[in-house]
Amino acid sequence: MKKLDYYFKKAAKENFAIGQFNVSTLEALKAVVAASGVLNSPVIVGVSEGESRFLGLKQIVSLVKVFREETKFPIFLNLDHGKTFEYIKKAIDAGFDSCHFDGSQLKFEENIIISKQVVKYAKGKGVFIEGEIGFVKGSSTLLEKSPEINYEDLTDPLMAKEFINKTGIDRLAVNVGTFHGVNASGDALRINLQRLEEIRNAVGNFPLVLHGASGVLPEDIKKAINLGIRKINLNTELRLAFTNALKRAFDENPKEIIPYKYLPGAAQAVQKIVEEKINLFGSNNKI
Ligand code: G3H
Ligand code: ZN
Repeated sequence: MKKLDYYFKKAAKENFAIGQFNVSTLEALKAVVAASGVLNSPVIVGVSEGESRFLGLKQIVSLVKVFREETKFPIFLNLDHGKTFEYIKKAIDAGFDSCHFDGSQLKFEENIIISKQVVKYAKGKGVFIEGEIGFVKGSSTLLEKSPEINYEDLTDPLMAKEFINKTGIDRLAVNVGTFHGVNASGDALRINLQRLEEIRNAVGNFPLVLHGASGVLPEDIKKAINLGIRKINLNTELRLAFTNALKRAFDENPKEIIPYKYLPGAAQAVQKIVEEKINLFGSNNKI
């Protein structure tokens, strides 16, 4: 089975991005696996600290492993927004393929120190590390109001270069104007493509990660891939699809109490979105 770095190299060579799809239930995980199989696409299953506590760190590792062994699809597991060395160590010890250390709210120097510590711990174990500079605001839910994104919030291109060189991370999450969550008004979110291009000019072909992809204009996603985005994180759109499908199911059939009868609709709704995004990111037929 090829490892995650094989797919990142392939993504750079063939100009596509790998989707990270966050899950917090077995049904959503099944949906991501099914989409990977339908479209022959590598996928990254993402779990935040909260999602991984809900699922269980060891439990989600085992589930992903079983699906990977059974299907032979390239399905990888990433801890999303790990906030401390201690939690990332737990995830690595549990068997994650990859971890995101989010030190974006720390002082730059402190972020470098902990990112280096994480990289050192992960390296001998074949685990890949995503670092981050430029805090991405919001949270993966329906927001009444979009967070205000100021010029100073965006990732500084020279700091990005220094951060990569000093930490030894495998990929870098950047703030290029997106936020976590979707605005209830439904306005499409735009990427600051100019800043992304400046970052790309500073860091060359180093793999960049886009967070907060829910609600982003598809055209901007395509342009961002052309500018070196190699991993795209999606959560809120999947949570919405799952929850809305369940609400509909209960509205339509309030007497239904059998979970295996009402849950598949929610999984199908998630799978539909994952398939749309895989096609948009261009990772279909890249196995
Ligand atoms: O780390 C997860 C992603 O950045 C999710 O962002 O909820 O806006 O899709 P999203
Ligand atoms: Zn994120």
